[in-house]
Order: sequence, then structure tokens, then C-alpha cells
Amino acid sequence: MRVGRALILAQRGRLASAGQRWRSSMPAVEPSEPQLPPFNHTPAPYQGPSKEEVYALRKQYLSPALFHHFKDPIMITEGKMQYLYDDKGRRYLDAFAGIVTVSVGHCHPGVVDAVKRQSELLQHTTTIYLNPQIALYAKELTDRLPGNLKVAYFVNSGSEANDMAMMMARLYSGNYDILALRNCYHGMSEGTMGVTAHSTWKFNVPQGFGIRHTLNPNPYTGAFGNDGKRYAEDVKDVISTSTPGGVAGFIAETIQGVGGSVPLADGYLPAVYDMVREAGGVCIADEVQTGFGRTGTNYWGFQNQGVVPDIVTMAKGIGNGLPLAAVVTTPEIAQTLAQRLHFNTYGGNPVCCAGGRAVLQAVDEDGIQANAAKVGDLLLERMRGLQEKHSIIGDVRGQGLMLGVEMVKDRASKEPAAAETGQVMQRLRELGVLIGKGGLHGNVFRIKPPMCITTDDAEFLTEAFDLALSEL
Ligand SMILES: Cc1ncc(COP(=O)(O)O)c(C=O)c1O
Repeated sequence: MRVGRALILAQRGRLASAGQRWRSSMPAVEPSEPQLPPFNHTPAPYQGPSKEEVYALRKQYLSPALFHHFKDPIMITEGKMQYLYDDKGRRYLDAFAGIVTVSVGHCHPGVVDAVKRQSELLQHTTTIYLNPQIALYAKELTDRLPGNLKVAYFVNSGSEANDMAMMMARLYSGNYDILALRNCYHGMSEGTMGVTAHSTWKFNVPQGFGIRHTLNPNPYTGAFGNDGKRYAEDVKDVISTSTPGGVAGFIAETIQGVGGSVPLADGYLPAVYDMVREAGGVCIADEVQTGFGRTGTNYWGFQNQGVVPDIVTMAKGIGNGLPLAAVVTTPEIAQTLAQRLHFNTYGGNPVCCAGGRAVLQAVDEDGIQANAAKVGDLLLERMRGLQEKHSIIGDVRGQGLMLGVEMVKDRASKEPAAAETGQVMQRLRELGVLIGKGGLHGNVFRIKPPMCITTDDAEFLTEAFDLALSEL
């Protein structure tokens, strides 16, 4: 489905002359443009302050560090499964899931129900008293992990989970140095900012003491292509040249998220896990984005490389939007924390645990992992089709519903096409798709929708993408 450029320009002209200040208040797309699949939900009429008022309040009373997508920001007031609604009631396909967080669907009825029921019963006490929710949840969550990963510690965010994982690694190993990958993202606390390897996310403050960054095994831009074992050699080199010879651990996302949906080259993790363990360290898998079936083939991203970590960190999709995160490890490693008191006020909160249990149930009952595989495969195929058609697409990659489309000015030099990425993103919004972007240069589309997305949604996304690319 295509529209001529003249029609689009004419449409824009009409809207501009009608004096519409915000594009999201535009009527739905032209009939000749791709149409969202039908969906049986009517959003409640929005009756709160106007978008302009909300924007002014935000600018006056919230940190200037907050950033938003789009020059004319969009105000989202409702969500239902894979769709979002703006203040005017317009529906969008959510292809980014609240930054890879809404796993089983916006306002999933099972999760809403569980949270509601628990909120009416007991909202909070902390772990100083017994409560069934946290105990049952710890069992249900660890039942889904392989090997001896049988002890959970609940916190509130991915950054907290990774901070705790690194502390456990240090306490358990008796070593200090932590190895991480360039281009990784593990959070924004002081500790995790030091691990994160993107200038975009690093402030000029002391950070990263004891962190050693190694070559990123990026199959698209890395020096060794998809040969994971060759990148792993760098880990050996860093251990022997930049550390006392022993390390506390190694942390990696199993597909880099913020870094632009970058899978690790084949065979990388098995080789590195061996080296790290030989150097006395433990292996930490950051499953904050990749867990809970998102990669389709497996429940956990690390399983795609055939390894079993010593510590797994989780956040985002674990709570479908609730402030919930976890560190799961072996009883031996968990024991290290018992040498002092350790406490987290909200960690294991009964409402979040009830919600987390409902997420696990929804993943199982709704066939979320199988759907991520099915729709993810279709999207991968469709994006590869678009790659053949549009030379600006340099790479299409990922697994399940953790996909990346890298935009380049030139396929040989791989020079990032960041401005064009922004243009396409804006056009997609106009067409009714909210997509994510990432990568060090902001030139990678990140397709990571709620995992209840359908094949019809995927076809719609493809048509909209095709149109937006054709108009560049
Ligand atoms: C892979 C990964 N780890 C950790 C984090 C940090 O999580 P949070 O923002 O909840 O602290 C993120 C956030 O984007 C992430 O993508």
C-alpha cells in the first residue's frame, strides 16, 4: 500500500493550514495508507489537563534531564495489550513496549486483577514479616531457571539488580575486577553507570573503578564478524593484562538492548564463561530485556548460547510495568550476602510480587514465548525483505521480539544514518506506529513490542515502515 509523495505533502499542507499545533491531534491516517488491524476496545474519553498544560508542568517541575521522543511530544493516556491511545483517543501500535517492559500486554487483565486483589488486602510490610506472595513468587520464578539457580532476591529496578549481582560476585570470588562489554547498558546508578559503556549515558564523575571493558562481539560491525571465539580471546588478554589475574565476574546482556539490539557473536558466551570461571569469577547474565520468552526460542536469552550463568538479573518485563526486579543465583553465592544485614524496603513488596506471579502465569497461559517466536520470525523475514528493497537498511538482526534494524548511509562504510532514522520514526508515528531507537549513534530501530502482538500487527508495521522508508 503506497501513497504518492504529492498526496502526503498535500495532506500535511491541509493540516498545517488548519492550524493544528500537535500532530497527534491529527485525524487517523489517510484511507490509502496502511491501517491498524481492527481491535475491540474503546478508550475512556480523556478528561485531564491538556497536553500543552502537561508539557508546561513537566518542563517547570520535572528534571531537565528527562527527554522525550518527538519534537511535538505525544501524550499517552491509555494502553490495552499491544496498543496505546493518546489524549485524543487515537490508537497506536506499540512497537517498543515502554522500553521493552510491557511483556504480556498493557493492562493485561490477569496482572491488573492480581494487583487489584492484593492492593485491597495488604500493600506493604517489608520482609520483616512473613507473607505468602514473596515466598510463592520466589519458587515460581526460580522453577523457570535451569541448573542450581534457585535463590531469588527482589529489588525494584534493573540498576539495583545489577549492582547487587556485582557485589555478590565480588563477595563470593574475593576478587574485585568485573569484565563487561563495550556498547553494553546495565543501568544508571553510580555502580552500573561505570559498567555501562556508552558515552551517551556516562557523566563526568568518578565511576567504573574495577570495571574492564572488552571487545564487543558485534557480528555486524565487529572486526571478527560472527566468530565469537575470536572476540573471546580479548577477554583472556584483558584478564592477563588489566587485572591481577583473577576476576570477580563477567556481566553481559545476552542481546544488547540500548546498544541497538546487538546479538553476541556465535560461540562467544561459552568461551568467555570458561575463561572467567578459570580466573575465579562468576558469570552474570543481564536478562533485563531478553528474559521471559522475548527471544522466542528460549525463555532466557542465555539459553540461546547454550550457557548457564551463576547469577541472572531481571527487571522490565518481569513486572509488565510494575517496579519489580530480581537477582537469581545459586544457594552458595546467595549465602555471601548473609555475612551482614542486607535490606531493601520495597523489594518483594506483596503487590509487585502478586503482579509478577500474574506475569509468569500470563506468559504460560497466553503462549507468549511461542508467539514471540512466530511473530518475531515473520517480522525478521519482512524486515529482511525491506532490506533488499531499501539500501539505507544495513543490517536486520535479533531473535524473537528483540529485533534491530540498523540504518546506514552506505553499506560499505556502515556510516550511521541517524537523521534519517529520526525522520522515519516521526513518519511511523504519523502512521500509527511507535517504535524505539538506540545504538551509540541512534541509528538502530528497536522493534520490541508487547509480546501479545499479532501477525496482522506485524504486517501493518511492515507496510508502514516500507512507506516511511520510501518517502525518505
Ligand atoms: C539490559 C538492561 N539492564 C539494566 C537496565 C537498567 O534498568 P533500570 O532502568 O530499571 O534501572 C536496563 C534499562 O534499560 C537494561 O536495558
